[in-house]
Amino acid sequence: MSEKKYEKKITCIGAGYVGGPTMAMIAAKCPQYKVTVVDINKEKIKAWQTDQLPIFEPGLLEVVKSARDRNLFFSNEIDAAIDESEIIFVSVNTPTKMFGQGAGKTADLQYWEKTARDILRVAKSDKIIVEKSTLPVRTSVAMERILNANEKGIHFEVISNPEFLAEGTAVSDLESPDRVLVGSRETPPGLKARQEIVDIFANWVPAEKIITSDTWSSELSKLVANAFLAQRISSINSISALCERTEADISMVSKAIGSDRRIGAKFLNASVGFGGSCFKKDILNLVYICEYYGLPQVAEYWENVVKINQYQEERFVQNMINTMFNTIAGKRVALFGFAFKANTGDTRESPAIFITRKLVEEQADVVITDPQALSNAKEDLADIIQKVTLEPDPYKAALGAHAIAIITEWEEYKGLDYTKIFNVMEKPAFVFDGRNILQHKQIFDIGFNVYPIGKPGLSHL
Ligand SMILES: NC(=O)c1ccc[n+]([C@@H]2O[C@H](COP(=O)([O-])OP(=O)(O)OC[C@H]3O[C@@H](n4cnc5c(N)ncnc54)[C@H](O)[C@@H]3O)[C@@H](O)[C@H]2O)c1
Repeated sequence: MSEKKYEKKITCIGAGYVGGPTMAMIAAKCPQYKVTVVDINKEKIKAWQTDQLPIFEPGLLEVVKSARDRNLFFSNEIDAAIDESEIIFVSVNTPTKMFGQGAGKTADLQYWEKTARDILRVAKSDKIIVEKSTLPVRTSVAMERILNANEKGIHFEVISNPEFLAEGTAVSDLESPDRVLVGSRETPPGLKARQEIVDIFANWVPAEKIITSDTWSSELSKLVANAFLAQRISSINSISALCERTEADISMVSKAIGSDRRIGAKFLNASVGFGGSCFKKDILNLVYICEYYGLPQVAEYWENVVKINQYQEERFVQNMINTMFNTIAGKRVALFGFAFKANTGDTRESPAIFITRKLVEEQADVVITDPQALSNAKEDLADIIQKVTLEPDPYKAALGAHAIAIITEWEEYKGLDYTKIFNVMEKPAFVFDGRNILQHKQIFDIGFNVYPIGKPGLSHL
Protein backbone atom coordinates (compact mmCIF):
# COMPACT_ATOMS: atom_id res chain seq x y z
CA MET A 1 0.00 0.00 0.00
CA SER A 2 1.47 3.40 -0.88
CA GLU A 3 1.95 5.82 2.05
CA LYS A 4 -1.05 8.04 1.29
CA LYS A 5 -3.44 5.13 0.94
CA TYR A 6 -3.36 4.35 4.66
CA GLU A 7 -6.59 5.49 6.33
CA LYS A 8 -4.82 6.44 9.56
CA LYS A 9 -1.22 6.67 10.66
CA ILE A 10 -0.66 5.53 14.21
CA THR A 11 2.55 5.67 16.21
CA CYS A 12 3.20 3.98 19.51
CA ILE A 13 6.03 5.24 21.71
CA GLY A 14 7.33 2.34 23.82
CA ALA A 15 7.88 -1.14 22.35
CA GLY A 16 7.59 -3.15 25.57
CA TYR A 17 5.17 -5.77 26.88
CA VAL A 18 2.22 -3.50 26.14
CA GLY A 19 3.27 -1.40 23.14
CA GLY A 20 4.54 -4.33 21.05
CA PRO A 21 1.59 -6.73 21.39
CA THR A 22 -1.18 -4.09 21.32
CA MET A 23 0.14 -2.45 18.20
CA ALA A 24 0.79 -5.80 16.52
CA MET A 25 -2.86 -6.68 17.13
CA ILE A 26 -4.13 -3.33 15.79
CA ALA A 27 -1.97 -3.73 12.68
CA ALA A 28 -3.03 -7.34 12.17
CA LYS A 29 -6.72 -6.48 12.47
CA CYS A 30 -6.58 -3.20 10.54
CA PRO A 31 -4.46 -3.48 7.36
CA GLN A 32 -5.83 -0.08 6.31
CA TYR A 33 -3.81 1.68 9.06
CA LYS A 34 -0.07 2.23 9.18
CA VAL A 35 1.21 1.36 12.65
CA THR A 36 4.73 2.31 13.68
CA VAL A 37 6.19 1.30 17.04
CA VAL A 38 9.20 3.28 18.25
CA ASP A 39 11.48 3.02 21.24
CA ILE A 40 14.67 4.57 22.55
CA ASN A 41 16.02 1.05 23.06
CA LYS A 42 17.68 0.13 19.76
CA GLU A 43 18.26 -3.53 20.69
CA LYS A 44 14.59 -3.99 21.43
CA ILE A 45 13.53 -2.51 18.10
CA LYS A 46 16.03 -4.71 16.29
CA ALA A 47 14.60 -7.77 18.05
CA TRP A 48 11.03 -6.83 17.05
CA GLN A 49 12.23 -6.90 13.44
CA THR A 50 13.38 -10.53 13.75
CA ASP A 51 11.70 -13.78 14.76
CA GLN A 52 13.42 -13.60 18.16
CA LEU A 53 10.99 -11.10 19.64
CA PRO A 54 12.18 -9.26 22.76
CA ILE A 55 9.32 -10.76 24.81
CA PHE A 56 7.80 -14.21 24.98
CA GLU A 57 4.03 -14.44 24.56
CA PRO A 58 2.22 -17.46 23.13
CA GLY A 59 0.95 -16.68 19.60
CA LEU A 60 2.61 -13.27 19.40
CA LEU A 61 5.14 -14.09 16.69
CA GLU A 62 2.36 -15.20 14.32
CA VAL A 63 0.43 -11.95 14.88
CA VAL A 64 3.56 -9.85 14.37
CA LYS A 65 4.53 -11.75 11.22
CA SER A 66 1.07 -11.35 9.74
CA ALA A 67 1.46 -7.57 9.64
CA ARG A 68 5.18 -6.76 9.86
CA ASP A 69 6.48 -4.77 6.90
CA ARG A 70 2.94 -4.66 5.48
CA ASN A 71 1.47 -2.05 7.83
CA LEU A 72 3.39 -2.73 11.05
CA PHE A 73 6.81 -1.18 11.43
CA PHE A 74 9.34 -1.08 14.26
CA SER A 75 11.68 1.89 14.21
CA ASN A 76 14.13 3.99 16.22
CA GLU A 77 13.17 7.10 14.28
CA ILE A 78 10.95 8.52 16.96
CA ASP A 79 10.74 12.05 15.55
CA ALA A 80 9.76 10.92 12.06
CA ALA A 81 7.07 8.63 13.44
CA ILE A 82 5.62 11.39 15.63
CA ASP A 83 5.65 13.83 12.74
CA GLU A 84 3.69 11.64 10.34
CA SER A 85 1.01 10.29 12.69
CA GLU A 86 -2.33 11.75 13.69
CA ILE A 87 -2.65 9.37 16.62
CA ILE A 88 0.13 8.66 19.11
CA PHE A 89 -0.18 5.96 21.74
CA VAL A 90 2.23 6.36 24.63
CA SER A 91 3.16 3.07 26.21
CA VAL A 92 6.36 3.86 28.08
CA ASN A 93 7.17 2.43 31.49
CA THR A 94 5.80 4.17 34.58
CA PRO A 95 7.68 2.48 37.42
CA THR A 96 7.38 3.34 41.09
CA LYS A 97 9.30 6.50 41.86
CA MET A 98 12.33 5.74 44.00
CA PHE A 99 13.37 9.27 44.98
CA GLY A 100 12.02 12.53 46.38
CA GLN A 101 8.38 13.22 47.08
CA GLY A 102 6.22 10.08 46.92
CA ALA A 103 9.29 7.80 46.83
CA GLY A 104 8.38 4.12 47.00
CA LYS A 105 4.74 4.80 46.13
CA THR A 106 3.82 7.21 43.38
CA ALA A 107 4.52 6.67 39.68
CA ASP A 108 7.76 7.97 38.22
CA LEU A 109 6.50 9.99 35.28
CA GLN A 110 9.86 11.08 33.88
CA TYR A 111 9.64 8.74 30.84
CA TRP A 112 6.09 9.76 30.22
CA GLU A 113 6.88 13.48 30.44
CA LYS A 114 9.88 13.06 28.15
CA THR A 115 7.64 11.62 25.46
CA ALA A 116 5.25 14.56 25.87
CA ARG A 117 8.16 16.92 25.33
CA ASP A 118 9.36 14.94 22.29
CA ILE A 119 5.89 15.16 20.80
CA LEU A 120 5.72 18.88 21.51
CA ARG A 121 9.12 19.53 19.93
CA VAL A 122 8.42 17.59 16.75
CA ALA A 123 4.70 18.01 16.02
CA LYS A 124 3.63 20.27 13.19
CA SER A 125 -0.06 19.38 13.19
CA ASP A 126 -2.92 18.55 15.61
CA LYS A 127 -2.67 15.14 17.23
CA ILE A 128 -4.52 12.76 19.50
CA ILE A 129 -2.31 11.52 22.32
CA VAL A 130 -3.44 8.24 23.87
CA GLU A 131 -2.34 7.30 27.37
CA LYS A 132 -1.76 3.55 27.11
CA SER A 133 0.60 3.46 30.06
CA THR A 134 -0.99 3.12 33.50
CA LEU A 135 -0.97 6.54 35.10
CA PRO A 136 -2.16 8.23 38.27
CA VAL A 137 -5.63 9.70 37.97
CA ARG A 138 -5.55 13.24 36.51
CA THR A 139 -2.18 12.77 34.75
CA SER A 140 -3.87 13.70 31.50
CA VAL A 141 -4.41 17.23 32.84
CA ALA A 142 -0.68 17.64 33.32
CA MET A 143 -0.11 16.24 29.83
CA GLU A 144 -2.62 18.58 28.29
CA ARG A 145 -0.97 21.52 30.02
CA ILE A 146 2.51 20.60 28.79
CA LEU A 147 1.34 19.87 25.25
CA ASN A 148 -1.08 22.72 24.77
CA ALA A 149 1.38 25.30 26.11
CA ASN A 150 2.90 25.34 22.62
CA GLU A 151 3.20 28.45 20.54
CA LYS A 152 2.73 26.64 17.23
CA GLY A 153 -1.08 26.83 17.36
CA ILE A 154 -1.30 23.03 17.46
CA HIS A 155 -4.06 21.33 19.45
CA PHE A 156 -3.53 18.07 21.31
CA GLU A 157 -6.38 16.01 22.66
CA VAL A 158 -5.35 13.59 25.42
CA ILE A 159 -7.28 10.32 25.60
CA SER A 160 -7.02 7.59 28.23
CA ASN A 161 -7.06 4.02 26.89
CA PRO A 162 -5.63 1.83 29.65
CA GLU A 163 -4.46 -1.64 28.74
CA PHE A 164 -5.99 -4.62 30.53
CA LEU A 165 -4.02 -7.44 28.90
CA ALA A 166 -2.43 -10.02 31.16
CA GLU A 167 1.04 -11.28 30.35
CA GLY A 168 1.02 -14.91 29.28
CA THR A 169 -2.37 -14.48 27.59
CA ALA A 170 -1.73 -11.12 25.91
CA VAL A 171 -2.65 -12.27 22.41
CA SER A 172 -6.03 -13.77 23.31
CA ASP A 173 -6.75 -10.87 25.68
CA LEU A 174 -6.13 -8.43 22.85
CA GLU A 175 -8.02 -10.47 20.31
CA SER A 176 -11.15 -10.83 22.45
CA PRO A 177 -10.91 -8.40 25.34
CA ASP A 178 -13.46 -8.35 28.18
CA ARG A 179 -13.68 -4.66 27.46
CA VAL A 180 -11.82 -1.76 25.90
CA LEU A 181 -12.00 1.48 27.84
CA VAL A 182 -11.68 4.86 26.17
CA GLY A 183 -11.84 7.99 28.31
CA SER A 184 -11.83 11.57 27.09
CA ARG A 185 -12.86 15.06 27.96
CA GLU A 186 -16.58 15.43 27.34
CA THR A 187 -16.13 18.46 25.10
CA PRO A 188 -16.83 18.44 21.32
CA PRO A 189 -13.11 17.98 20.40
CA GLY A 190 -12.72 15.45 23.24
CA LEU A 191 -15.68 13.40 22.05
CA LYS A 192 -14.48 13.55 18.45
CA ALA A 193 -11.03 12.26 19.45
CA ARG A 194 -12.64 9.56 21.61
CA GLN A 195 -14.64 8.38 18.61
CA GLU A 196 -11.45 8.13 16.50
CA ILE A 197 -9.97 5.74 19.07
CA VAL A 198 -13.21 3.78 19.43
CA ASP A 199 -13.25 3.39 15.63
CA ILE A 200 -9.85 1.64 15.73
CA PHE A 201 -11.00 -1.05 18.16
CA ALA A 202 -14.41 -1.35 16.49
CA ASN A 203 -12.59 -3.10 13.64
CA TRP A 204 -12.67 -6.30 15.69
CA VAL A 205 -14.08 -5.66 19.17
CA PRO A 206 -17.91 -5.87 19.48
CA ALA A 207 -19.49 -2.47 20.18
CA GLU A 208 -20.93 -3.55 23.55
CA LYS A 209 -17.43 -4.28 24.79
CA ILE A 210 -16.13 -0.80 24.08
CA ILE A 211 -16.81 1.34 27.14
CA THR A 212 -16.42 5.09 27.02
CA SER A 213 -16.10 7.47 29.95
CA ASP A 214 -14.60 10.72 31.17
CA THR A 215 -10.81 10.72 31.38
CA TRP A 216 -10.50 10.54 35.16
CA SER A 217 -12.75 7.50 35.51
CA SER A 218 -10.80 5.75 32.80
CA GLU A 219 -7.42 6.47 34.41
CA LEU A 220 -8.69 5.44 37.83
CA SER A 221 -10.40 2.27 36.57
CA LYS A 222 -7.08 0.78 35.53
CA LEU A 223 -5.56 1.26 38.98
CA VAL A 224 -8.70 -0.07 40.64
CA ALA A 225 -8.91 -3.14 38.37
CA ASN A 226 -5.37 -4.14 39.33
CA ALA A 227 -6.03 -3.37 42.99
CA PHE A 228 -9.12 -5.65 42.98
CA LEU A 229 -7.29 -8.47 41.21
CA ALA A 230 -4.37 -8.32 43.61
CA GLN A 231 -6.76 -8.05 46.55
CA ARG A 232 -8.34 -11.39 45.63
CA ILE A 233 -4.92 -13.03 45.62
CA SER A 234 -3.99 -11.51 48.97
CA SER A 235 -7.40 -12.46 50.39
CA ILE A 236 -7.04 -16.13 49.48
CA ASN A 237 -3.37 -16.16 50.49
CA SER A 238 -4.21 -14.74 53.91
CA ILE A 239 -6.70 -17.60 54.38
CA SER A 240 -4.06 -20.12 53.22
CA ALA A 241 -2.04 -19.21 56.32
CA LEU A 242 -5.05 -19.97 58.49
CA CYS A 243 -5.64 -23.27 56.65
CA GLU A 244 -2.10 -24.37 57.45
CA ARG A 245 -2.77 -23.82 61.17
CA THR A 246 -6.19 -25.47 61.22
CA GLU A 247 -5.70 -28.38 58.78
CA ALA A 248 -8.35 -26.97 56.49
CA ASP A 249 -7.58 -27.24 52.76
CA ILE A 250 -7.39 -23.99 50.81
CA SER A 251 -8.39 -25.69 47.53
CA MET A 252 -11.62 -26.87 49.14
CA VAL A 253 -12.25 -23.43 50.61
CA SER A 254 -11.61 -21.80 47.20
CA LYS A 255 -13.96 -24.23 45.50
CA ALA A 256 -16.67 -23.77 48.11
CA ILE A 257 -16.60 -19.99 48.09
CA GLY A 258 -15.90 -19.70 44.34
CA SER A 259 -19.12 -21.55 43.47
CA ASP A 260 -21.04 -18.60 44.84
CA ARG A 261 -21.74 -16.61 41.68
CA ARG A 262 -21.36 -13.36 43.60
CA ILE A 263 -17.77 -14.33 44.40
CA GLY A 264 -16.84 -16.29 41.25
CA ALA A 265 -14.17 -18.96 40.87
CA LYS A 266 -11.36 -17.05 39.16
CA PHE A 267 -8.23 -15.71 40.83
CA LEU A 268 -8.75 -17.82 43.94
CA ASN A 269 -5.63 -19.99 43.71
CA ALA A 270 -3.45 -19.69 46.77
CA SER A 271 0.21 -19.26 45.87
CA VAL A 272 3.58 -18.02 46.89
CA GLY A 273 2.35 -14.50 46.11
CA PHE A 274 1.69 -12.24 43.14
CA GLY A 275 4.39 -10.63 41.06
CA GLY A 276 4.57 -8.76 37.79
CA SER A 277 5.42 -5.20 37.03
CA CYS A 278 1.93 -3.86 37.67
CA PHE A 279 0.04 -5.05 40.75
CA LYS A 280 2.33 -3.71 43.45
CA LYS A 281 3.22 -0.55 41.57
CA ASP A 282 -0.40 0.27 40.75
CA ILE A 283 -1.67 -0.37 44.28
CA LEU A 284 1.09 1.78 45.78
CA ASN A 285 0.15 4.44 43.30
CA LEU A 286 -3.48 4.20 44.43
CA VAL A 287 -2.33 4.37 48.05
CA TYR A 288 -0.35 7.51 47.32
CA ILE A 289 -3.29 9.16 45.58
CA CYS A 290 -5.57 8.36 48.55
CA GLU A 291 -3.04 9.87 50.94
CA TYR A 292 -2.67 12.91 48.71
CA TYR A 293 -6.43 13.47 48.73
CA GLY A 294 -6.60 13.11 52.53
CA LEU A 295 -8.04 9.57 52.73
CA PRO A 296 -5.61 7.74 55.05
CA GLN A 297 -8.09 4.95 55.93
CA VAL A 298 -8.63 4.12 52.28
CA ALA A 299 -4.88 4.23 51.66
CA GLU A 300 -4.22 1.87 54.55
CA TYR A 301 -6.89 -0.57 53.39
CA TRP A 302 -5.22 -0.99 49.99
CA GLU A 303 -1.68 -0.94 51.31
CA ASN A 304 -2.48 -4.10 53.26
CA VAL A 305 -2.94 -5.98 49.99
CA VAL A 306 0.77 -5.41 49.29
CA LYS A 307 1.74 -6.20 52.88
CA ILE A 308 -0.05 -9.57 52.83
CA ASN A 309 1.76 -10.41 49.60
CA GLN A 310 5.11 -9.70 51.20
CA TYR A 311 4.03 -11.76 54.22
CA GLN A 312 3.15 -14.70 51.96
CA GLU A 313 6.59 -14.66 50.31
CA GLU A 314 8.31 -14.48 53.70
CA ARG A 315 6.13 -17.25 55.09
CA PHE A 316 7.05 -19.51 52.17
CA VAL A 317 10.79 -19.18 52.79
CA GLN A 318 10.38 -19.45 56.55
CA ASN A 319 8.39 -22.64 56.11
CA MET A 320 11.15 -24.10 53.93
CA ILE A 321 13.78 -23.32 56.54
CA ASN A 322 11.73 -24.63 59.47
CA THR A 323 10.83 -27.83 57.66
CA MET A 324 14.39 -28.55 56.58
CA PHE A 325 15.49 -28.79 60.23
CA ASN A 326 16.02 -25.04 60.69
CA THR A 327 19.06 -24.84 58.49
CA ILE A 328 19.54 -24.78 54.76
CA ALA A 329 23.18 -23.67 54.77
CA GLY A 330 25.10 -25.67 52.19
CA LYS A 331 21.97 -27.48 51.01
CA ARG A 332 21.14 -27.47 47.32
CA VAL A 333 17.66 -26.05 46.71
CA ALA A 334 16.15 -26.15 43.21
CA LEU A 335 13.69 -23.43 42.28
CA PHE A 336 11.34 -24.61 39.54
CA GLY A 337 10.35 -21.41 37.80
CA PHE A 338 11.57 -17.84 38.02
CA ALA A 339 9.02 -15.97 35.86
CA PHE A 340 6.31 -14.21 37.86
CA LYS A 341 3.71 -16.41 36.16
CA ALA A 342 3.57 -19.14 33.52
CA ASN A 343 3.86 -18.44 29.78
CA THR A 344 6.01 -15.37 30.12
CA GLY A 345 9.71 -14.72 30.51
CA ASP A 346 8.93 -11.60 32.55
CA THR A 347 10.42 -11.66 36.04
CA ARG A 348 9.60 -8.16 37.22
CA GLU A 349 8.60 -8.29 40.91
CA SER A 350 8.57 -12.09 40.71
CA PRO A 351 8.37 -13.73 44.16
CA ALA A 352 11.31 -15.81 42.91
CA ILE A 353 13.61 -12.81 43.31
CA PHE A 354 12.82 -12.35 47.00
CA ILE A 355 12.90 -16.10 47.65
CA THR A 356 16.27 -16.58 45.95
CA ARG A 357 17.81 -13.70 47.88
CA LYS A 358 16.52 -15.04 51.19
CA LEU A 359 17.77 -18.55 50.46
CA VAL A 360 21.18 -17.22 49.45
CA GLU A 361 21.27 -15.15 52.65
CA GLU A 362 20.74 -18.44 54.50
CA GLN A 363 23.69 -19.81 52.51
CA ALA A 364 21.67 -22.36 50.55
CA ASP A 365 23.13 -23.51 47.27
CA VAL A 366 20.37 -22.25 44.96
CA VAL A 367 19.83 -23.60 41.45
CA ILE A 368 17.18 -21.99 39.28
CA THR A 369 15.44 -23.52 36.30
CA ASP A 370 12.86 -21.89 34.02
CA PRO A 371 11.94 -22.45 30.36
CA GLN A 372 11.84 -18.73 29.46
CA ALA A 373 13.13 -16.55 32.26
CA LEU A 374 16.76 -17.45 32.86
CA SER A 375 18.22 -14.48 31.01
CA ASN A 376 16.06 -12.10 33.04
CA ALA A 377 16.97 -14.01 36.22
CA LYS A 378 20.62 -13.41 35.43
CA GLU A 379 20.01 -9.66 35.35
CA ASP A 380 17.77 -9.64 38.45
CA LEU A 381 20.41 -11.47 40.46
CA ALA A 382 23.45 -9.79 38.91
CA ASP A 383 24.93 -8.87 42.31
CA ILE A 384 24.72 -12.44 43.66
CA ILE A 385 24.97 -14.38 40.41
CA GLN A 386 28.15 -16.20 41.50
CA LYS A 387 26.15 -17.68 44.39
CA VAL A 388 23.38 -19.21 42.24
CA THR A 389 23.30 -21.66 39.35
CA LEU A 390 21.04 -21.22 36.32
CA GLU A 391 20.07 -24.54 34.73
CA PRO A 392 17.56 -24.87 31.89
CA ASP A 393 17.00 -28.59 32.49
CA PRO A 394 14.82 -29.27 35.59
CA TYR A 395 16.19 -32.81 35.93
CA LYS A 396 19.74 -31.49 36.14
CA ALA A 397 18.61 -28.76 38.53
CA ALA A 398 17.26 -31.42 40.90
CA LEU A 399 20.46 -33.47 40.84
CA GLY A 400 21.77 -33.66 44.42
CA ALA A 401 19.14 -31.22 45.71
CA HIS A 402 17.60 -31.49 49.17
CA ALA A 403 14.50 -29.61 48.08
CA ILE A 404 12.51 -28.46 45.08
CA ALA A 405 10.35 -25.36 45.33
CA ILE A 406 7.75 -24.77 42.63
CA ILE A 407 7.66 -21.02 42.11
CA THR A 408 6.03 -20.68 38.67
CA GLU A 409 3.00 -22.68 37.50
CA TRP A 410 4.56 -23.83 34.20
CA GLU A 411 2.45 -26.63 32.72
CA GLU A 412 5.56 -28.72 32.05
CA TYR A 413 6.35 -29.00 35.76
CA LYS A 414 3.15 -31.00 36.24
CA GLY A 415 4.30 -33.68 33.82
CA LEU A 416 7.89 -34.26 34.97
CA ASP A 417 8.99 -37.74 36.01
CA TYR A 418 9.12 -37.17 39.76
CA THR A 419 10.34 -40.71 40.46
CA LYS A 420 13.38 -40.01 38.31
CA ILE A 421 13.85 -36.70 40.13
CA PHE A 422 13.43 -38.30 43.56
CA ASN A 423 16.08 -40.87 42.73
CA VAL A 424 18.76 -38.26 42.09
CA MET A 425 17.99 -36.07 45.10
CA GLU A 426 19.45 -36.08 48.60
CA LYS A 427 17.22 -37.72 51.22
CA PRO A 428 15.02 -36.80 52.90
CA ALA A 429 13.75 -35.04 49.76
CA PHE A 430 11.35 -32.12 50.07
CA VAL A 431 8.91 -30.50 47.66
CA PHE A 432 7.49 -27.07 48.47
CA ASP A 433 4.69 -26.48 46.01
CA GLY A 434 4.30 -22.72 45.91
CA ARG A 435 1.58 -23.00 43.24
CA ASN A 436 -0.30 -26.12 44.33
CA ILE A 437 0.09 -27.63 40.85
CA LEU A 438 1.42 -31.10 41.69
CA GLN A 439 -0.49 -34.25 42.63
CA HIS A 440 0.57 -34.13 46.25
CA LYS A 441 -0.48 -37.63 47.30
CA GLN A 442 1.31 -39.20 44.28
CA ILE A 443 4.46 -37.22 44.95
CA PHE A 444 4.30 -38.21 48.61
CA ASP A 445 3.93 -41.88 47.65
CA ILE A 446 7.15 -41.63 45.63
CA GLY A 447 8.90 -40.73 48.87
CA PHE A 448 8.92 -36.94 48.95
CA ASN A 449 7.93 -34.88 51.95
CA VAL A 450 5.41 -32.52 50.39
CA TYR A 451 4.47 -29.04 51.57
CA PRO A 452 1.76 -27.28 49.55
CA ILE A 453 0.31 -23.85 50.26
CA GLY A 454 -2.69 -23.77 52.58
CA LYS A 455 -2.96 -27.54 53.06
CA PRO A 456 -1.56 -29.96 55.59
CA GLY A 457 1.96 -31.12 54.69
CA LEU A 458 2.53 -34.81 53.83
CA SER A 459 5.56 -36.01 55.73
CA HIS A 460 7.36 -39.33 56.09
CA LEU A 461 9.42 -37.92 58.95
N1 LIG B 1 3.16 -5.34 31.40
C1 LIG B 1 1.86 -5.45 31.56
O1 LIG B 1 1.31 -6.55 31.70
C2 LIG B 1 0.99 -4.23 31.55
C3 LIG B 1 -0.39 -4.38 31.42
C4 LIG B 1 -1.18 -3.25 31.40
C5 LIG B 1 -0.61 -2.00 31.52
N2 LIG B 1 0.73 -1.86 31.66
C6 LIG B 1 1.29 -0.50 31.73
O2 LIG B 1 1.81 -0.17 30.46
C7 LIG B 1 2.97 0.66 30.58
C8 LIG B 1 4.14 0.02 29.86
O3 LIG B 1 4.41 -1.23 30.49
P1 LIG B 1 5.35 -2.31 29.81
O4 LIG B 1 5.25 -3.53 30.66
O5 LIG B 1 5.06 -2.38 28.36
O6 LIG B 1 6.79 -1.62 30.03
P2 LIG B 1 8.16 -1.99 29.32
O7 LIG B 1 9.22 -1.55 30.24
O8 LIG B 1 8.11 -3.40 28.84
O9 LIG B 1 8.17 -1.06 28.00
C9 LIG B 1 8.29 0.32 28.02
C10 LIG B 1 9.16 0.74 26.86
O10 LIG B 1 9.15 2.16 26.76
C11 LIG B 1 10.43 2.57 26.30
N3 LIG B 1 10.62 3.99 26.58
C12 LIG B 1 10.77 4.60 27.79
N4 LIG B 1 10.90 5.93 27.62
C13 LIG B 1 10.83 6.18 26.29
C14 LIG B 1 10.90 7.35 25.51
N5 LIG B 1 11.04 8.55 26.08
N6 LIG B 1 10.79 7.24 24.16
C15 LIG B 1 10.64 6.02 23.58
N7 LIG B 1 10.55 4.86 24.28
C16 LIG B 1 10.66 4.94 25.62
C17 LIG B 1 11.39 1.66 27.03
O11 LIG B 1 12.63 1.60 26.39
C18 LIG B 1 10.62 0.32 27.00
O12 LIG B 1 11.00 -0.47 25.91
C19 LIG B 1 3.19 0.83 32.08
O13 LIG B 1 2.57 2.02 32.47
C20 LIG B 1 2.46 -0.35 32.69
O14 LIG B 1 2.00 -0.07 33.98
C21 LIG B 1 1.55 -2.96 31.65
